[in-house]
Amino acid sequence: MVPGVSRRDALRGLGGALLAATAGGVPMAVAADRGRPGGADGGRFSARVEGLLARLTRAEKLMLVHGSTDPTGARPIGFTAGVERLGIPPLRFTDGPAGVRLRRGRASTALPAPVMLAASFDPRLADAYGTVLGQEGRAFGADVVLAPMVNLMRTPYAGRNFETFSEDPLLTAQIAAAEIQGIQAQGAVAAVKHLALNNQEADRLTVDVEIEEQPLREMELRGFEAAVAAGVGVVMGSYNKVRGSYACENRPLLTDLLRGEWGFTGWVVSDWGATHSTAQAITAGLDMEMPGSTHFGAALGRAIADGSVPEAALDTAVGRILSVQERFHLLDEWPPGRPDHDAASGARTALDVARAGATLLHNPHATLPLSDERATSLALIGPTALRPFVSGGGSAYVDPAHADSPETVFRERGAQVRTALGENIYGHPLVAPSTSLDDLRVPARETRTMHALITVPQAGTWTWVLHHSGAAPHLLVDGVDPFRPVPGSEFAVGGLLRTAPGGFVLRRCTTELTAGTHRIDLTANGGAQGQQVRLRHLSESTRAADLAEAVSAARAASTAVVFAYEDATEGHDRTTLNLPGNQNTLISAVAATGTPTVVVLNASGAVAMPWLDEVAAALHMYYPGQEGARATAEVLCGDIDPGGRLTQSFPTDDDSHATAQDPGRYPGTGSTVTYSEGILAGHRWHTATGTAPLFPFGHGLSYTTFEHADLTAEAERDGSLTVRFTVTNTGDRPGVTVPQVYLGPSPDLTANQIGQPPRILAGYRRVSLRPGRSKNVTVKVAPRQLSSWSTARRAWVLGTGSRSLWIADSAEDLRLAGTVVLGAAGGPAQGGRGLGFGGSQGSSGAEPKVTLNLH
Ligand code: BGC
Repeated sequence: MVPGVSRRDALRGLGGALLAATAGGVPMAVAADRGRPGGADGGRFSARVEGLLARLTRAEKLMLVHGSTDPTGARPIGFTAGVERLGIPPLRFTDGPAGVRLRRGRASTALPAPVMLAASFDPRLADAYGTVLGQEGRAFGADVVLAPMVNLMRTPYAGRNFETFSEDPLLTAQIAAAEIQGIQAQGAVAAVKHLALNNQEADRLTVDVEIEEQPLREMELRGFEAAVAAGVGVVMGSYNKVRGSYACENRPLLTDLLRGEWGFTGWVVSDWGATHSTAQAITAGLDMEMPGSTHFGAALGRAIADGSVPEAALDTAVGRILSVQERFHLLDEWPPGRPDHDAASGARTALDVARAGATLLHNPHATLPLSDERATSLALIGPTALRPFVSGGGSAYVDPAHADSPETVFRERGAQVRTALGENIYGHPLVAPSTSLDDLRVPARETRTMHALITVPQAGTWTWVLHHSGAAPHLLVDGVDPFRPVPGSEFAVGGLLRTAPGGFVLRRCTTELTAGTHRIDLTANGGAQGQQVRLRHLSESTRAADLAEAVSAARAASTAVVFAYEDATEGHDRTTLNLPGNQNTLISAVAATGTPTVVVLNASGAVAMPWLDEVAAALHMYYPGQEGARATAEVLCGDIDPGGRLTQSFPTDDDSHATAQDPGRYPGTGSTVTYSEGILAGHRWHTATGTAPLFPFGHGLSYTTFEHADLTAEAERDGSLTVRFTVTNTGDRPGVTVPQVYLGPSPDLTANQIGQPPRILAGYRRVSLRPGRSKNVTVKVAPRQLSSWSTARRAWVLGTGSRSLWIADSAEDLRLAGTVVLGAAGGPAQGGRGLGFGGSQGSSGAEPKVTLNLH
């Protein structure tokens, strides 16, 4: 914070600035507090950093604030040069949130997708997950790990929902803080991303997000605020615009809020290619451009030379970067010592997380866990039964050294296994009268075109599947490129669908094809190494044949397990909640055989399940990482209790969620997306509108049963609320439960026109219990969680008065209810530091006095 400016003034400043940004963007003027090192950080840098700043030339300083090419040829995801003569080492950056992403040929631990980590509702596991990222990041030569992603899941279609944690701000904040502590305890710098509001992939590079300040504060920003309180070293600015100006040149966000109010002292890096200006960006608080130097290289040098940017602004950015390097001891050793890659503990954590995040959605007749013949005579159906779905697509994709398939794991467990693809996602060969298109070999530095005629007996839906080992070939069908003219016809290519066994890259597109003869022209370039190309297809008749094969495998087995997939990736949103391809039909057909049918979902998040009542059980395994097959088998067979809970509401269909039926809300109109749902996002929307989800937030079944009792609540001196209750395992197996604490609105806030959802998540605890055992559970609710943001007062205001309190198994399954009466003794509340929340600056009222009435 700027000396002489109180926290309260800084808060006022933020509110005003955010409103100004709404009214017409961020002013270009160079801010006074960028005029000296430290800027809004509240002081000068350490003597060591000041000393380095004094000795660095302008050219050297410029090199530190933008990406460049690693001269060692190591090709990290990001690189900034160092200054050897002053002992400033280069910095190497690696993705990402689901494991350390290495270039081809090197393997790291593929952890389960972050959404699966959050499904554990276990911050201690998040610390362990961060430990793997930090350990491996450092072992593989990186200094900065581009994780975690804390943008909220706002729409179920968002392509990166698997990379992030939850639709709920509290859960996101606590998992994020613990993961950051894990990463940074290993000596790697965490980069929390993407500040802010990168909640969709549709138009992500340009979309302008319009949002009121209360939901911005209470929802999306909570994860970032917790990351800063946990000491995160780097914040990554997002691609999109926030209230009229690009996030990476948004002064209200990067300076007034992040530094002025939250006290962030690290550096802000742009997302890759998200810098749009020189003077405006550095003035707003961006410290580093990645991955190149378009705006912060020569252009910044010129701007300093002509006086449009003061050199002190560059010093501030460099000082922040050096300060983090100093804090992480990166200035002490060159080259820095690197630990060995600890593959064994990476694998252990990957397995722990896949076990803990396994979420049993449906099991009405206790078909699971499988036992006796049910566990040993299996039909495993679906591509992810045969080829493990390890990782989602995009920058979070991780290639492990090794990952078993469910088929292998069940065979190793001694089961008799039949398999079927259900739908051959790799396509069937085309039988062309004149030539086969299944093996086109193009020598190096040559271009070949293959012509063929194919005869289609029946009009219908047709999927082209193009396999190539080099540059993407060009396909024409009757003179038209089928990949081009039909927007959305190409399947999103994530972790599963983008490759085929044998190292082929896949492209697919679906069109309608008429009966008759069609001309195919396929042109491919051999590149430097030569390449192999195949053109395959799926048609109604191949789908029928695949389905018949799956049905006969199911008939011959005691249990059918259909592995259903949905292949999400950065860069694309989904267009529907339905499973892709023929999978809904396949599941119904397998269930109709009468063989008990279990569906295992390898999906990024919510999917529609029109077949739910037809199947015996549904288990969500997300993208479970390299140990996912083992964890899946253990849960299906009951070695492990499924302890995962949903971190997002699963809507019944495409019309029944907070971002449905209003294009302004999603995907946006005229390049703006308006968060008109306000604070009623995710489960809050379902509760407030009475729209029942298919499965609510927090839902997840166990193989045993639990009871809750003895609810009490008590005010603490630090202004928090302590909720206590007991949980008893009333079944006959050991199991895991995640009791959740929800709070109703405060009548005093309502009277003051501060909107609140009907229920918020106030806390939770993951509990493991042996049969017959009880545990006393204590959940602390921090003052911030009891408060709402008042835009009028520009402060957090404690929600006093009589408030409902529930202990629940999900946002819709309330087990115990009571009323707490929170009274304010006056004076500012003191925030707890615990898991991630800093002091609740500016809160009014505190030391809640609590009385509890049970009903
Ligand atoms: C993604 C970031 C990622 C970066 C570097 C961007 O496209 O949005 O999350 O860290 O690429 O790979």
